[in-house]
Amino acid sequence: MSTGMMKIGVCGVGTVGMATLNILRGQADSIASRAGRSLSVTHVGARTQYSEHDYGAARVSQDVMDVARDPEVDILVELIGGTGVAFDLIKLAIAEGKHVVTANKALIAEHGNELIALAESAGVQIRFEASVAGGIPIIKTLREAMAANQVSEVAGIINGTGNFILTEMSTKGREFEDVLAEAQALGYAEVDPTFDIDGTDAAHKLVILASLAFGIPLSIDAPFKQGINAITPADLEYAATMGYRVKHLGIARQRAEGIEMRVHPTLIPESKQLASVDGVLNAVMIAGSEVGELVLIGPGAGGAATASSVCADLIDIARQPRSSSLALGTPVASLVAQPTIPNGEIASEWYVRLTAADQPGVMSDITHILAAHDISIESLVQQPPAAGEDQVPIVLLTHLAREAVMNEALQEIMDLEGVQPDSALIRVEGFDH
Ligand code: HSE
Repeated sequence: MSTGMMKIGVCGVGTVGMATLNILRGQADSIASRAGRSLSVTHVGARTQYSEHDYGAARVSQDVMDVARDPEVDILVELIGGTGVAFDLIKLAIAEGKHVVTANKALIAEHGNELIALAESAGVQIRFEASVAGGIPIIKTLREAMAANQVSEVAGIINGTGNFILTEMSTKGREFEDVLAEAQALGYAEVDPTFDIDGTDAAHKLVILASLAFGIPLSIDAPFKQGINAITPADLEYAATMGYRVKHLGIARQRAEGIEMRVHPTLIPESKQLASVDGVLNAVMIAGSEVGELVLIGPGAGGAATASSVCADLIDIARQPRSSSLALGTPVASLVAQPTIPNGEIASEWYVRLTAADQPGVMSDITHILAAHDISIESLVQQPPAAGEDQVPIVLLTHLAREAVMNEALQEIMDLEGVQPDSALIRVEGFDH
């Protein structure tokens, strides 16, 4: 043991908070040996009282600000979530000279530039490995292992709940609501799962990854965002019959004109590695100028996996409490903003599902509109009508087209007599650019 004990205050005692306490207790000896000192939770901030929770010898405060003000605490761990109390708590902890570890992607994506700058001025560290992809050490990889590379792309499955839901729906035919309830029970989903479903959680994570990858400030408004809520079981099935899987992806790419940043459902050819990353697993692919492509796969949510990343940050601080964490790989003042490429300008191949009357001429009208927009069709399948229905689903795959052009064509198609005004439009990513 090189120096004295590192005293930790943990605020937030939900799934990840309790898992963090369990790891620090259960792995105490090996952690002390690896950190060069012991780590002890001396103060817990719990806004709600849980009679079944065991906090050991730690002091317990209902007012979490008491933890930030506690002169004994060296590192404050924020596991409350959200951008309200957590923001004030972290600012107070930094002002009190404490290091901070957080799993809060919303807070880092929205206020990270300010919080990191405050930490830099105060000479303390702020670390947030657990904020992206749960147990996968993706932040450390980008910030440290990739430091000699120019990163041109970071892309992958970065919401465990969403991936769990899509996997269960497509492989077992389960209902969306039923799988979501299970994801909540397993501790994968956010307290309010809206963010998991509508793409906000993945967008927050992508903002953090893009900042680390491209050296840009955290830009909360940059990503285009679409969730998994509009995906129907029929789309999952049609995609499968054509040799694709539907995954919710976050993609950030460096282009000559700026950065492309988007989260949305995507068809991926079954032969690609990301297509078979199922359940709560996340996978992040990084393309580096020197190393080539790396893919990291692991549990993206869940108490123990996320707490593993929280504890890794604690150990890093305990090892070198006086060093700067360079939270985004470079001092905040050295980050350089770049333009975001509008989503409408980004070309891809597309999956389109339409519903149309089963009558002569409709198909030819559809193909004419696509041709008029210079959109070339790769395949077109008219599905059999449901029993007693005279409307038929039409599923087509296109070659490359910009989103703005695709939307224009789709609107014209839906305005046709005989075509229903509902449709699905999903990007196809072959990852072979
Ligand atoms: N709700 C998040 C997810 C937890 O499902 O990915 C990890 O950030």
